[in-house]
Amino acid sequence: MTRNPGGDQVSVLFTEEQIALRVAQLGEEITSAFGGREICVLGLMKGSLVFMADLIRRIPLDLTVHLVRVTSQLEQAAGRVLTEIVYSTSVPLQGKDVLLVEDIVDTGITLSYLMAHIHEHGPASLRVCALVDKPEARKIDVHPDWTAFPVHEPLADRFLVGYGLDWMERFRGLPFIGTIPKPLRG
Ligand code: IMP
Ligand code: MG
Repeated sequence: MTRNPGGDQVSVLFTEEQIALRVAQLGEEITSAFGGREICVLGLMKGSLVFMADLIRRIPLDLTVHLVRVTSQLEQAAGRVLTEIVYSTSVPLQGKDVLLVEDIVDTGITLSYLMAHIHEHGPASLRVCALVDKPEARKIDVHPDWTAFPVHEPLADRFLVGYGLDWMERFRGLPFIGTIPKPLRG
């Protein structure tokens, strides 16, 4: 059973204005980092869709846009997480400068899996931009090259929603990033 202990009570963590400012800054940094080269932007569905839509409009480079979706399942007995790609637009990654756009890097399992998968396709380079990084929750040591908002304890204990982030598919359309109490599972 899953319940939503916060009801619809979402506390604002980062406002629309703060997000817009940060996305503009990241756009400039990313643009100069790629020095005029063409890039292949790969967005992780669905959480990064809103962020990616805003970010690419702040990167005045030749770019192509692709999407990938993964699922993660906890294999209880073995105590490990199985991650698998369930959807991907056809992505010609070989020889490309790839920018992977993630919503949240939490344990790092999803990101490290995706990075390994992308490397198998022989890109010229791979860099990662995350909307939110929760470094204290890391189980695998991976670091995004750019992070819009690092979130530290005790806030890492709250569940982030809005601006593409969901709780059980809800809240993605909020224009700001908010928090709800960490939902109980079970
Ligand atoms: P991990 O880094 O593999 O643990 O997983 C990161 C994924 O978990 C993200 O792509 C999100 O979809 C999801 N996630 C982790 N923390 C939150 C949160 O606070 N709000 C919404 N989704 C979250
Ligand atoms: Mg999610």
